[in-house]
Amino acid sequence: AVDGHSSTPEEYEDIVSGLPSSTALGMVLRQYRGSWVIQERVTAFISLQRRFTPRPGDVLLASPAKCGTTWLKALAFATMARGAYPPTDAQHPLLRMNPHECVPFMDELFTAGQDARLEALPSPRLMHTHMHHSLLPASVTRDPKDMLVSLWHFVKGVRPFTFDDLFNSACEGKTPNGPIWDHLIGYWSTSKTSPDNVLFLRYEEMLIDPVGHVRELARFIGQPFSHADEAAGIPADIVKLCSFDKLKGQGANTAGSYDGKVFSFAHETFFRKGVAGDWVNNMTPEMAQRFDTIIEDTLRGSGLTF
Ligand code: A3P
Repeated sequence: AVDGHSSTPEEYEDIVSGLPSSTALGMVLRQYRGSWVIQERVTAFISLQRRFTPRPGDVLLASPAKCGTTWLKALAFATMARGAYPPTDAQHPLLRMNPHECVPFMDELFTAGQDARLEALPSPRLMHTHMHHSLLPASVTRDPKDMLVSLWHFVKGVRPFTFDDLFNSACEGKTPNGPIWDHLIGYWSTSKTSPDNVLFLRYEEMLIDPVGHVRELARFIGQPFSHADEAAGIPADIVKLCSFDKLKGQGANTAGSYDGKVFSFAHETFFRKGVAGDWVNNMTPEMAQRFDTIIEDTLRGSGLTF
């Protein structure tokens, strides 16, 4: 028992089997606290909420899938590790490892029963989640239309569904960690009420001014760049090290794979186009309008627009 909660597998199974379920995109999703969660991850999310103890200084990157997680992982890792590994270091971990190997994905560690690895990390810890807002992380998002298109290209090789299937499920809110609009609102609202705890980043704005955003990230994390860092060009070097072309070309990203309990993906699939607005090549104007209307309606009153 932790925090007064029993945490036996049987009890978790009872909780999971009592949750609303829906089959979408060939996956069974369960609705847990308003979020559609892949069935295989629900017990992980419950135990994460019960057992994970945040520490002062923790940095948790949060994103809906396909909104720039890989990039943010690289930037945040390079920023936080710059003392041990200057971004121009020829032996930099990001030149040897995929960004997902540098920053642990807590949803997966809890799914695989390996959450002790998070406890073993020295502070300040840098971690990542795709969960809806429930902790206090830094978050990145992007135009939901581009996110859908990116997700489609990413998952089509490992799950047999069409873009129309994905689009229709997304309109109903039924994607893993959906509805997307609740994911957005959760982090957005908290970034407004607790700006010291949640930094809300937008992929499109990061593309326009990556160096400015790395400075903002470093400040938020509590490791602002010093005058000496600035004079040495560290923020620009971090951006260069983490740029799409640089990372895409590394051997660790052209080969190898991320192998999770639920999904496996070749590292190269995390790097596709890396631009804003690619939805025009994949969605009809009617689809875009339908999706924009849903996003507008669901975000109305929150102050968040796309
Ligand atoms: P596209 O499929 O539109 O190209 P995530 O990392 O959350 O899975 O998001 C993946 C998206 O981020 C993909 O978008 C991918 O190409 C893009 N991406 C990956 N690394 C990037 C980088 N270093 N800079 C900019 N975009 C990047």
